Amino acid sequence: MTPELVRRMSAPVPRYTSYPTAPHFSTQVGATAFRKGLRGLSPSQALSLYVHIPFCAQMCWYCGCNTKATRNRETIETYFQHLQAEILMVASLVPGDKPLAHIHFGGGSPNSLSADQIRRLGETLHASFGIGLETEFAVEIDPRWLDDDQMSAFAEVGVNRASVGVQDFNPQVQSAINRMQSVETTERAVRGMRAAGVSGVNIDLVYGLPHQTEESVANTIEEVIRLSPDRIALFGYAHLPSRAKHQTLIDETTLPDTMARYRQSRRAEILLTKAGYVTVGLDHFAKPGDSLASGEIKRNFQGYTTDQGEVLIGVGASSISKLPTGYYQNAVARADYERRVTETGLATVKGILLSDDDRMRAGVIERLMCAFDFSKTSLQSTFGALAQPLIDTADELVSADAEGLVERTADGFRVTEQGQPFVRAIASCFDAYLGKGHSTFSAGV
Ligand SMILES: C[S@@+](CC[C@H](N)C(=O)[O-])C[C@H]1O[C@@H](n2cnc3c(N)ncnc32)[C@H](O)[C@@H]1O
Repeated sequence: MTPELVRRMSAPVPRYTSYPTAPHFSTQVGATAFRKGLRGLSPSQALSLYVHIPFCAQMCWYCGCNTKATRNRETIETYFQHLQAEILMVASLVPGDKPLAHIHFGGGSPNSLSADQIRRLGETLHASFGIGLETEFAVEIDPRWLDDDQMSAFAEVGVNRASVGVQDFNPQVQSAINRMQSVETTERAVRGMRAAGVSGVNIDLVYGLPHQTEESVANTIEEVIRLSPDRIALFGYAHLPSRAKHQTLIDETTLPDTMARYRQSRRAEILLTKAGYVTVGLDHFAKPGDSLASGEIKRNFQGYTTDQGEVLIGVGASSISKLPTGYYQNAVARADYERRVTETGLATVKGILLSDDDRMRAGVIERLMCAFDFSKTSLQSTFGALAQPLIDTADELVSADAEGLVERTADGFRVTEQGQPFVRAIASCFDAYLGKGHSTFSAGV
């Protein structure tokens, strides 16, 4: 892989956790449209639920998520009460038994909630939705602020998968991102969650952080392999200080360049596959027996998932819902979110209603991000003549490709193994919104 090619394919593009992406949501679509969308769901429809907890005990400087540093119990309790009210309102609008296929507590750090709040949230969810043993119930964990009672509470409410944040174990890297976290602390959380009865454990890592080298990434990977998580997410650091102000605390001169980022991700992939992990999509790895490695995967706001559901309801500040009709996003600022929930029961501030063209491109982009290919025949049979511009784009890409990144298949289009690290850039060729508006995106590799 030449440095020139890697640089060319690293131009900033979306991560495609949705299509159209959030910068194209409009304030024309608000709570009224969301209410109508929820009421119109089919009663037998399996649902997924995302619950956002926008608090962390301390701010990590690399963080790109919607969160604020606080340990103020009153602030957290006030938010928590609004969150409970929003969940009850949403549940009252959805018809039928509301079976949940997936629940995800994300953040921020959901373990900013006390054990008591975790149990109360669990009660509300069990009273409002259908939750069973088959429901996958995941939580994001910051292992530095996790006690035994919280671990028991997560297991009691039905959590069966924990994503433990690590990022990197090197002290110089940790100091540069304001996240000091020992291997021992991480191991205590991994063992503790398993002992409490949470059977699935994931570990989150990031490459491209300040001071990271191929060697430091390799050392972190060795430690992680020893902890034997079922899944590993290895995200490329998204450095967007214009959007996440605390990222300005990171010294940009210490960030690895594009080629170094590329090498770090390749080295990690080699080590993980050598240790028996299977590569899933662009940046996830799973043990061969894990459902993420063995089944069909999809892409949602958390990255890759086994969740096949068409409906994702997001509650909490900044959360995004995906209904058959479109995407709907809640107010990002906590005070605005709480005010809207108090006044109307919902906090939707923007969204987008999907056209057939959006649905078609969303399907192609998701398929490329997950399986690196798409079928012309199935596209044409679902969308008819509307599919032609996408088929033309695929043909043009194959004709222009001198590097062996994409190819024609008997039935459509495929990203080759060589092209897979650049799938975001390739997927962006099928994005009708790219270049419209003033969005900022992270490096494509
Ligand atoms: C929503 S965060 C929550 C993690 C949790 N609060 C913790 O302390 O580990 C989930 C994951 O997103 C990833 N992440 C956060 N900011 C990122 C950024 N700027 N670039 C790439 N990945 C990022 C990290 O791997 C992180 O563990």
